[in-house]
Amino acid sequence: MTKTAENTRKILVTSALPYANGPIHLGHMLEYIQTDIWVRFQKLRGHECHYVCADDAHGTPIMLKAQQLGITPEAMIDQVNQEHQQDFADFGVAFDNFHSTHSDENRHFAELIYNKLKSNNFISTKVIEQLFDPEKKMFLPDRFVKGDCPSCGSEDQNGDNCDSCGATYSPVELKNPRSVVSGATPVLKESEHYFFQLPKFEQMLKDWTRSGSLQVEMANKLAEWFEDGLRDWDISRDAPYFGFNIPGTTDKFFYVWLDAPIGYMGSFKNLCNKNPEIDFDSFWAKDSTAELYHFIGKDIIYFHSLFWPAMLEGAGFRKPTSVFAHGFVTVNGAKMSKSKGTFIKARTYLEHLNPEYLRYYYGAKLTSKIDDLDLNLEDFAQRVNSDLVGKVINIASRCAGFVVKKFDGMLSNDIVEQALINEFIAAEPEIAQHYENRDFSKATRQIMALADKANQYIADKEPWQLVKDPTKADEVQQVCSLGINMFKILTTYLKPIVPQLAEQVEAFLNIELTWDGISQPLTNHKINKFKAMMQRVDMEKVNAMIEDSKDNLQAIVNTPVALDPESPLAKDPISDTISFEDFAKIDLRIVKIIKAEHVKGADKLLRLELDLGGETRQVFAGIKSAYQPEQLEGKLTVMVANLAPRKMRFGMSEGMVLAAGPGGEDLWVLNPDDGAQPGMKVK
Ligand code: 2FM
Ligand code: ZN
Repeated sequence: MTKTAENTRKILVTSALPYANGPIHLGHMLEYIQTDIWVRFQKLRGHECHYVCADDAHGTPIMLKAQQLGITPEAMIDQVNQEHQQDFADFGVAFDNFHSTHSDENRHFAELIYNKLKSNNFISTKVIEQLFDPEKKMFLPDRFVKGDCPSCGSEDQNGDNCDSCGATYSPVELKNPRSVVSGATPVLKESEHYFFQLPKFEQMLKDWTRSGSLQVEMANKLAEWFEDGLRDWDISRDAPYFGFNIPGTTDKFFYVWLDAPIGYMGSFKNLCNKNPEIDFDSFWAKDSTAELYHFIGKDIIYFHSLFWPAMLEGAGFRKPTSVFAHGFVTVNGAKMSKSKGTFIKARTYLEHLNPEYLRYYYGAKLTSKIDDLDLNLEDFAQRVNSDLVGKVINIASRCAGFVVKKFDGMLSNDIVEQALINEFIAAEPEIAQHYENRDFSKATRQIMALADKANQYIADKEPWQLVKDPTKADEVQQVCSLGINMFKILTTYLKPIVPQLAEQVEAFLNIELTWDGISQPLTNHKINKFKAMMQRVDMEKVNAMIEDSKDNLQAIVNTPVALDPESPLAKDPISDTISFEDFAKIDLRIVKIIKAEHVKGADKLLRLELDLGGETRQVFAGIKSAYQPEQLEGKLTVMVANLAPRKMRFGMSEGMVLAAGPGGEDLWVLNPDDGAQPGMKVK
């Protein structure tokens, strides 16, 4: 279909915004790959489609993580933003814009939406009681309170539910509650909060749900929530908080989930600022005829199908055309696990494997449903090798050599077996519909069935036999040219899924693979020499990726944080930088020095006994030049708790104490205070 102004759709697409306090992993990648395939398909079809995303940069966990790292939240989110963007780019996820919710544009829209909701009487205030950490002087979100389950008494349970008996409760019901941040016993404290009056939007949300564009599972979930009754939503948080101040206050902030979806607008506005030909209002104004889609995980349906459309409606903007949810990723049939090495970061994957393998595997398994998707690594290797390498690329590798060697790269003047090529062309509307419906698994199945036909044709014709007979030269050229034409159509169909492979095919065929080009055979056209386009998946590399993903205590000896002069690292300093991820592997803990003593025969070392909050470790620290043992006893310090134990002449050293200074007497053991407790994580 040739695009005209009339049939060009205007589409804005988003993926959920990743939190700016951790790396992207293969669970996240499912959504970005799914969205990217859909967006690439829309663009390939000639539609005006913009794909925006951003880091979700606000909230208590981000504030605390930055504190633990001893850097500002701004510095942390900038660093993470760069890493996220690199991971996405390396996986071929082609955002038109990737921004941050901690941006001027987002602040503008968060304030605008809030002010409109307020003036339209959708905001109320109420004084509520919450648990407060008296040492850290902060209110504690549920996940920052632990204690004994009020139902079964199990110790060390989360603030809102019990892992042991499954009970759900409010954190104020926990027995022996303690703050995860400081270890202090929380107290109840009152504070005024701001609420968004969701129930006022019930009818509108019901109508929107029934408008027909939501997944059935989502519509059912919404029906349950309507049944339970909608409630006002608490959109404020007290200082200290990393986020935007609520207008008219100095100590109240928007809850991270208020400004997170507004981040879709913020990022799009940032794109419009850079490209004035894109008109913000035509996508977001109440009367917009553009399409707006949010791809999300099933865990955040509530935010996107209730709060978000209601906020938009209440503030006078258009609502999403639809919200598309997907399930979670399991690896080898189970939840991703750090100890099994199946919690695989995007970067670790990229260090071992071609990103297009994963794009294809996810594509081949994705449907429009909300089911979980299992990344079975044996099946992954088998599927990629059999489909992409064994079926698709094989067609070109069987035909190209003859065309290049015998016919100087020229394809035949006409297509023999027009019926066969017509079959490939005729599949286009159905494959397009599968893409449109996000049923990529059906699309790939159909594409692979065609690839089987192409291979069967070549196997039947046996050009490698024909070529031996000089009178059959024309036939060789025709068979191979048809093979190349079938290959061209197949790789055009696959282009949204494996764009790098499509790029290599474009270089090989000397053309751009376009959707319109599907129906235009390539004849009397010169192609280039065929070069291997993709290696088979090597299980050894898959296994190496798993090994690298295991929680590996040894990994930390590669980091130059140790200032212990007895450490081999101190004698042979490492000048290379380390990645943020390597740094994040170091388990730094606050410990109490319960005993310190001289070590017979050692002139630099002291033997320390350290309390990690229940566990005692022995560490030999090279700090004798600076401290007498009695100066240290009872003091708090910081240790690297996950350093592999090291056998020293005097006994096992089970970690490392951090000290800084030029040496000799000028060496200071890091000495935290301010409410630190043995066992607390420093990062
Ligand atoms: O669940 C999450 O990872 C959130 N950071 C998603 C936010 S999506 C949008 F609403 F911003
Ligand atoms: Zn319980």
